[in-house]
Amino acid sequence: FSLLLRLHHFLKTYIFTQFCDRNMPKPNCLMLNVHLVPHTHDDVGWLKTVDQYYYGGRNDIQHAGVQYILDSVVAALQKDPARRFIYVETAFFYRWWKQQNPSTRRVVTQLVEQGRLEFINGGWCMSDEATTHYSAVIDQMTLGLRFLNDTFGECGRPRVAWHIDPFGHAREHASLFAQMGFDGFFFGRLDYQDKARRMKAREMEMVWRASQSLKPPAADLFTGVLPNGYNPPPGFCWDQSCSDAPVQDDPDLDDYNVDMLVATFLNIASAQAQVYKTNHIVMTMGSDFQYENANLWYKNMDKLIRYVNAQQANGSVVNVLYSTPSCYLQELHLANLTWPLKTDDFFPYADDAHDFWTGYFTSRPALKRYERLSNSLLQTCNQLEVLGGAKSRSGPFGEGHSDTMKRAMAVAQHHDAVSGTERQHVAYDYAKRLATGWAHCQVLVRNSLAVLSGSDVPRVFCENLNISVCPLTEGSKKFSMNVYNPLARVVTWSVRLPVNGTSYSVTDSNGKEMDSQVSVCVCYLKVTFDPATGLLSGLTNLETQQSIQLTQNFYWYNASGGDAESRQASGAYIFRPNSSTPISINQNPNISTLQEVRQQFSPWVSQVVRLYNGSRELELEWTVGPVPVADGLGKEVITRLDSNISSAGYFYTDSNGREVMERRKDYRPTWDLKQTEPIAGNYYPINSRAFIKDGRNQMTVVTDRSQGVSSIYNGSLEIMLHRRLLHDDVRGVEEPLSEPGEFADGLVVRGRLLVMLTPPETAADMHRPLAQGMVLQPMLSFQEGALPRNFSGLQAALPPAVHLLTVSQWSNDSVLLRLEHQYESSESKTYSLPVTVNLQKLFSTLEIVGVSEMSLGANQWKEDMKRLQWKPSTGTNTHAARQTAAFHRPYPTPWEITLQPMEIRTFLLRVQRR
Ligand SMILES: *[C@@H]1O[C@H](CO)[C@@H](O)[C@H](O)[C@H]1NC(C)=O
Ligand SMILES: *[C@@H]1O[C@H](CO)[C@@H](O)[C@H](O)[C@H]1NC(C)=O
Ligand SMILES: *[C@@H]1O[C@H](CO)[C@@H](O)[C@H](O)[C@H]1NC(C)=O
Ligand SMILES: *[C@@H]1O[C@H](CO)[C@@H](O)[C@H](O)[C@H]1NC(C)=O
Ligand SMILES: *[C@@H]1O[C@H](CO)[C@@H](O)[C@H](O)[C@H]1NC(C)=O
Ligand SMILES: *[C@@H]1O[C@H](CO)[C@@H](O)[C@H](O)[C@H]1NC(C)=O
Ligand SMILES: *[C@@H]1O[C@H](CO)[C@@H](O)[C@H](O)[C@H]1NC(C)=O
Ligand SMILES: [Zn+2]
Repeated sequence: FSLLLRLHHFLKTYIFTQFCDRNMPKPNCLMLNVHLVPHTHDDVGWLKTVDQYYYGGRNDIQHAGVQYILDSVVAALQKDPARRFIYVETAFFYRWWKQQNPSTRRVVTQLVEQGRLEFINGGWCMSDEATTHYSAVIDQMTLGLRFLNDTFGECGRPRVAWHIDPFGHAREHASLFAQMGFDGFFFGRLDYQDKARRMKAREMEMVWRASQSLKPPAADLFTGVLPNGYNPPPGFCWDQSCSDAPVQDDPDLDDYNVDMLVATFLNIASAQAQVYKTNHIVMTMGSDFQYENANLWYKNMDKLIRYVNAQQANGSVVNVLYSTPSCYLQELHLANLTWPLKTDDFFPYADDAHDFWTGYFTSRPALKRYERLSNSLLQTCNQLEVLGGAKSRSGPFGEGHSDTMKRAMAVAQHHDAVSGTERQHVAYDYAKRLATGWAHCQVLVRNSLAVLSGSDVPRVFCENLNISVCPLTEGSKKFSMNVYNPLARVVTWSVRLPVNGTSYSVTDSNGKEMDSQVSVCVCYLKVTFDPATGLLSGLTNLETQQSIQLTQNFYWYNASGGDAESRQASGAYIFRPNSSTPISINQNPNISTLQEVRQQFSPWVSQVVRLYNGSRELELEWTVGPVPVADGLGKEVITRLDSNISSAGYFYTDSNGREVMERRKDYRPTWDLKQTEPIAGNYYPINSRAFIKDGRNQMTVVTDRSQGVSSIYNGSLEIMLHRRLLHDDVRGVEEPLSEPGEFADGLVVRGRLLVMLTPPETAADMHRPLAQGMVLQPMLSFQEGALPRNFSGLQAALPPAVHLLTVSQWSNDSVLLRLEHQYESSESKTYSLPVTVNLQKLFSTLEIVGVSEMSLGANQWKEDMKRLQWKPSTGTNTHAARQTAAFHRPYPTPWEITLQPMEIRTFLLRVQRR
């Protein structure tokens, strides 16, 4: 095939762009088309570590080896151009690709260009949706999508988001997928009551409007529920790990079964067609780690297709074909229907009356915190790599880089990683990967700070400040502390350092004395304790003259081990208390007051209550563990704040750290809930905050990691902090969640809650910046002696509504920048307004010489991002024309950019050092 061009201009460069002309399978528009989607679900760690899964090590734990899957599928695809396969987890594909020779790479590239091997989702992993923070999700998607674009160009760009296994679905995830340019989204798990209703109403496929702030269709995402989770229909599993009968098609041999199989298949297809809207249906042909011997699957599917379609000669109207989710989606789009509109989310997820997957919101709280801290360090590391230039990667302290940390963080987003639903040794492996990432980033950070401060004096990071250990500050008479603030605005942050002396003078870099006194009495808040019980009794905001009664205590739910009604026990995934009344640990804690209030509730539960000068929130630092289980009872420990706020069953939780969702006790917005677990069925995930309010008062709790939260009583907010259990919950992990900790007697976990009391109207003005400050913490480093210098990477602080989400080196001369409007459209009188930033006036040391806007996943230019448009049956669709016009900008784009509430804009900047 050749290209013929008439050249009108001599001095013009012609750019030849290869369009990815995926050769779609041909369905028959007069028939019921059954799209078989051959796929494998490869967990990026679960019962085995990610590397054990890749190589097929430790097959005694679980037989699974991803390298063989890819080898085998690539060979099977070459045998017949009709065959299709989709691949999802880039963490594995990347490992495999590195090991292939040029000729295999050529074959694979061709399969991708022809649409026979198609990448779907394309993130480094398939992230968890309940316990992940949006910034880490965007990063892990960016990492995977970039690899695919760098390797395969446009043909490697996934069109469809695919979260077939995560245990409930967050609205913010759908919003991010829409902004990444995906045309649609498919998943497997939703509440069993919701699924039954949707099947009856033919609402298995819908338009999800995933943001209350972004103008439709910016955050609209076509969403489909798959019929069998992600498994094949019963009787049609032909993997080596299955035991269904193969297609036995020689009538001369025993067990000929073609007629029976064809009849069964036709029945299944017609039943499935009853609950979906079009003459296209989808079947997922594969499951966990399947296709290690792809021949088994393909040989039998080839025959199934042949024999089922042969029935068309006899009047059958069923047409089976090899397909992919994007081909299926294309057909749904051509059907030109309207689809039901979904505006809430898919939490909590229950697969039966007593089986609520709400335990994992809190499972492995220390890993959840370490993941969050690692995110903060990674953002700092990325920023300092940009600010310090090439010397940060190779400088006085050696070779440093951010790549291992990026990959470790991406792996940690997997739905059996930060979720806490992996085996113990796999949890250790995730933590080890993060620790290795830290080490490489710390070299980079040391180099960069040396460049920026002009001082090569060795710098230490005190990682055990959480337990008041730092040899340098304890052993030195004069030391300096460097604080790097990764936020684009000034923050107030209290620092506690272990020291060995009794009298210190603290000065800033200009030699000015600073306040270094911790005090219980401040200007903004007053907290009272009941002297008789030692418990909190009230909270007053002195600025607004608001006052509430507030008690706080710790309780534990007695974990169910299963009972006659249901054998379901509490475990890593599932929360099922034996009784709805939690057990109080102590109604009269011992308290002592010394610049702060210490409460000892039991040998394994204590708390420090602090107020800092100049801050508007109450800090509750809790320490829980080792949770005793010698009494034979698993324990799920909560902290509960009981106030006199009239919350009337309503409470509010964030979605992946961004938009806020309204929750109501014993209620679901989209169906009539039959509540069967009064506690577990009311738990929701939070990533950064929860609140309750009435007309006058709002109490907001900002957390330092993802947790489960509920409001069971009027005025009350409870947060699950730690879990130690004695039973497995039969969801495959086959290990009770009982983290051993340092001394094998149970893990001790410490964390912080920040509590605020404000009028509801101004609450967001405070909790938004406070929550971002918890996520992106100042990085502290210490040096012997005095360090003279201040440095700011920015020319000036950004406006309060703007969050600097990403600053990361993309190539030698380009930087990826994401700016985010951090307020929702109607939550703040002051800040919920469009805000404009001048990119040229952003950085102090970098001059921007070019800028191009990208999709949120940074794998497409914004002007090329054209998504399929879908019509919801209700709700307006203020439409494409406006959006496209706004996105299309002449090159070079103006330096002034405007952000609407909740908008994130992604730019590739070409930069020069000033
Ligand atoms: C079609 O029906 C006829 C008559 O029942 C039968 O002989 C033939 O085998 C059928 N063809 C197929 C492909 O099943
Ligand atoms: C889609 O349906 C609408 C009516 O809902 C109709 O006006 C339009 O022409 C249809 N588009 C196509 C491509 O069939
Ligand atoms: C603290 O000071 C004492 C006495 O000056 C000394 O013995 C001890 O080693 C110091 N502790 C640390 C951690 O340096
Ligand atoms: C906790 O639950 C167990 C059953 O799992 C029950 O035997 C025990 O009495 C309960 N203990 C308390 C203190 O409620
Ligand atoms: C709680 O424990 C009691 C006593 O062992 C038992 O009778 C009851 O069925 C348990 N309930 C649940 C939900 O585990
Ligand atoms: C303190 O932080 C370190 C990581 O810096 C972590 O390993 C340790 O578990 C934390 N300790 C507590 C009690 O939370
Ligand atoms: C995608 O990768 C190609 C090279 O394969 C590159 O030319 C192009 O700029 C990349 N697109 C984006 C949006 O980064
Ligand atoms: Zn999975």
